[in-house]
Amino acid sequence: MSQQKKLNIGLFGFGVVGEGLYKVLEHTPTLNAQIKKVCIKHPEKKRNAPATLFTTDAAQLLDDEDINVIIELIDDAEAAYRIVTTALRSKRAVVSANKKMIATHIEELIALQQKHDVPFLYEAACCASIPVIRNLEEYYDNDLLQGIRGIVNGSTNYILTKVFCEQVSFDEALLQAQIAGFAESDPSLDVEGIDAVNKLSILLTHAYGILSSPNALLHTGIQSLHKQDAIYAKEKGYEIKLVAQAHKLHDGSIAAFVLPQFVAKDDQLSTVRNEYNGVIIESSLADKQFFYGKGAGGFPTASAVLSDLSALRYNYRYEYKKLNYQAPSKLGNDFYLKVCVSFKGLLQVPHERFDQILEWSSNEKRCHVTGIIHFERLIEDKWWKQPGISIVLYPDGIIDNYEPRKNELEYAGLDFVEQEVGI
Ligand code: HSE
Repeated sequence: MSQQKKLNIGLFGFGVVGEGLYKVLEHTPTLNAQIKKVCIKHPEKKRNAPATLFTTDAAQLLDDEDINVIIELIDDAEAAYRIVTTALRSKRAVVSANKKMIATHIEELIALQQKHDVPFLYEAACCASIPVIRNLEEYYDNDLLQGIRGIVNGSTNYILTKVFCEQVSFDEALLQAQIAGFAESDPSLDVEGIDAVNKLSILLTHAYGILSSPNALLHTGIQSLHKQDAIYAKEKGYEIKLVAQAHKLHDGSIAAFVLPQFVAKDDQLSTVRNEYNGVIIESSLADKQFFYGKGAGGFPTASAVLSDLSALRYNYRYEYKKLNYQAPSKLGNDFYLKVCVSFKGLLQVPHERFDQILEWSSNEKRCHVTGIIHFERLIEDKWWKQPGISIVLYPDGIIDNYEPRKNELEYAGLDFVEQEVGI
């Protein structure tokens, strides 16, 4: 067996994940890895490690020739970008967990890895402890991948579990997620689906060779979900989860978005609770595989960083196989979604934008309209992003072969609703 490479680590960040990694490494002597210096932003904070380990001077890590691995576990995406690009340019292997930074700059980061011939690994950036990126890279380096559906944000799943299953208030649940270290320091990134779409964008690169800015992908979070939506879902035998998905359409293009979704009891995603994540990979030959694990928190995220470190010992690197060895797929917009739109008062919801309305109901608190709508119209329109309106995808809600049947009669019932709620 060849001699394992000694990893001398320069670590940026000593938050929940950084400290988790530090502790894990103390108990992993076989890895032959040692943290030489940790760069932190707030020297006044009490740290559970020897003071000599810390510095606030990034150059002490980036200019130290003895350090051959930079691990970036900070929160600030712009500073993370500077650290990672500097480290790659100086031919150091880099491990990062910064999904926002990676999703935003993935094209440039891939080019830098190739130019400087260095590995850049980031398994922790998607679903923390679940090895989904490496799975897509290595096992699905072929045409079999039909789709990915997943709960990829632990905080929103934690909040949905607490609010809808345990009757905790939204604010209290969010606070708990923050205290436990699951939430982003700006929790709107979690709540509004931005963290989930950043992760989806990274997954799209490894699954299909798609390089897309996360902003270009349709997404929303759980910010507008109403208690009545959970009641409505329950009546239909569903729960609501925030789901990121990519699905191969009949023309080979890929539908990709993040939306809240009704999840039936026999769907594996319904078993995913609290900060856990779950990813279903659909293959044309193997049917479905379900990956389940902790998607946030210090130790689960540190475990993915540790696995990347371990992979560096044998010079593992992502090959971006779908980008480099096959014709990358394209995003597709020509399909329909079956959704439930919930709101109070019909005026905000332009029902003529639906291709078909299948069902509606209303009470004094909320109206729920179920209908079919073209995906492109959801991208163009912003009405469904207004405060007070929520949108939830139905199970199997991607409709690839729909014949539009729009006609006036289908809206007749809605005029009645408008009168009922008195608007
Ligand atoms: N805020 C993220 C989450 C952390 O809740 O999933 C892990 O990426």
